Amino acid sequence: MTSIAEIDYPNELERDARRCLESGLSVGARDSVHGSLVGFHLSLLMRRDEKEEDHESKAYKVLAKLYDDVDLFQDETVEKVCKMFLLCVHSDYSGRGIGATMVKKALELGKQNGCHLASVDITNSVAGKIYKRLGFESLNTLDLTTVTVTAVDVSCIPGETTMMAMVKRLQ
Ligand SMILES: CC(C)(COP(=O)(O)OP(=O)(O)OC[C@H]1O[C@@H](n2cnc3c(N)ncnc32)[C@H](O)[C@@H]1OP(=O)(O)O)[C@@H](O)C(=O)NCCC(=O)NCCS
Repeated sequence: MTSIAEIDYPNELERDARRCLESGLSVGARDSVHGSLVGFHLSLLMRRDEKEEDHESKAYKVLAKLYDDVDLFQDETVEKVCKMFLLCVHSDYSGRGIGATMVKKALELGKQNGCHLASVDITNSVAGKIYKRLGFESLNTLDLTTVTVTAVDVSCIPGETTMMAMVKRLQ
């Protein structure tokens, strides 16, 4: 099995990170005393008419498996989706509500930008709790131990072997 350090996804990750930074839907949190960045939540805008690109990296292929049987645009009234991509808070600042506050802010931005749906792929039960509490519901789950594209060494994430696609209707 490939270790997490060997996953080769720089091109797709860089492309999506850029799309998130340009989307107007991404937020960061700063320490109000030192000014340093202590957390960020990256989101990008997906449109119905955009063609899904083929995935090069194994990690993205695993993520795509979550959507084998479900479609974010299945409801014909959904034209724009706020795709929440990365949530991260520095460990010195965890448990202070920063993660939840950034997700709330991103939901507001998604709504202001005309998104009909917010979507996120969860790989962590703490994050799952945050999104559930803010009204996200499970669309699909993937048991990583059954995935044959062996991109992720699940032993690196003790107790976290399930990925979940979650959605929340915004308007
Ligand atoms: C997940 C993460 C973003 C949470 O950020 P955070 O700012 O600590 O979250 P919040 O303070 O808003 O906490 C939300 C809830 O999670 C709980 N929580 C936070 N850190 C926790 C931890 N390490 N263990 C257990 N619960 C935790 C909080 O107590 C809170 O629950 P409560 O309201 O019932 O008390 C942060 O831990 C992180 O960056 N993790 C690594 C990256 C990651 O896994 N990202 C998500 C990928 S899907």
